[in-house]
Amino acid sequence: MARCFVTRKLPGSALDRLRAAHDTDVWLGGLPPSREELIDHAREAEGLVCLLTDTIDADVIAACPRLRAISNYAVGSDNIDAQAAAERGIEVAVTPDVLTDTTADLAFALMLAMARRLPDGERAVREGKWRTWEPSGWLGQDVHGATLAVVGPGRIGEAVARRAEAFSMDVLRLGRGDPLEPALARADFVSIHCPLTDETRGMFGEAEFAAMKPTGILVNTARGPIVQTDALRSALIDGVIGGAALDVTDPEPLPPDHPLFEAPNLLVVPHIGSATHRTRERMADLAVDNLLAAL
Ligand code: DGY
Repeated sequence: MARCFVTRKLPGSALDRLRAAHDTDVWLGGLPPSREELIDHAREAEGLVCLLTDTIDADVIAACPRLRAISNYAVGSDNIDAQAAAERGIEVAVTPDVLTDTTADLAFALMLAMARRLPDGERAVREGKWRTWEPSGWLGQDVHGATLAVVGPGRIGEAVARRAEAFSMDVLRLGRGDPLEPALARADFVSIHCPLTDETRGMFGEAEFAAMKPTGILVNTARGPIVQTDALRSALIDGVIGGAALDVTDPEPLPPDHPLFEAPNLLVVPHIGSATHRTRERMADLAVDNLLAAL
């Protein structure tokens, strides 16, 4: 039996399987443990199940001398210092595949919502501004037949591309090293699906927004820091781009008084790409399976 620390209660029954096999301590707080609390609970642990909200850097790893396996409850692993883990021979696992289609569904939902101005329309109805059927009211953009740039055509990017092709969209796939600007200039929608790395951090800034169409809509369901928040705010306020729909932000969570909210044509949802009952349970099963296998 190994000692394990799980940094949050997970949906479904996966943690029961971990408890049955190992001495398992689960953080029951509604918010992530602080760094001190994390180290305190993980200090003697051999196995760790953590979330994207837990920073597992070299210092945390050094503070946990018995750690043998880290299982992230996410497909992204930018919260973990992979090199520090590798140097200690610690296995690091993530939860690919099980959330691909669910996240692609959300990216597509965000794109449709922005294109057809669902937030504006919904607000207008609630505010009593829906007085009649208006020939020129709440006009948006067609998604079908439009051009979509998929930045990072990996598992989730390809799942978005498949949905786009079913909408008769022209899909431009931008892989690592491909020049962004010519595709951004052609695209009506730009959807980000690359991991957060040193290379992709801040990838979308003033120059990239300037390259986009003034009607272009940016969708980010990957990681917040891939987009420069201040540059996005200016691009929206100055009408350099047509809109943005974000499932991820920098900072995250985005406080309600953040200056980004001064920008028009912005839709922000709280990092819910994988948030369906079934998918979050499948992620929990996979995260536990990964830890059990590694231990
Ligand atoms: C991930 O898995 O990396 C998502 O951001 C949350 O499901």
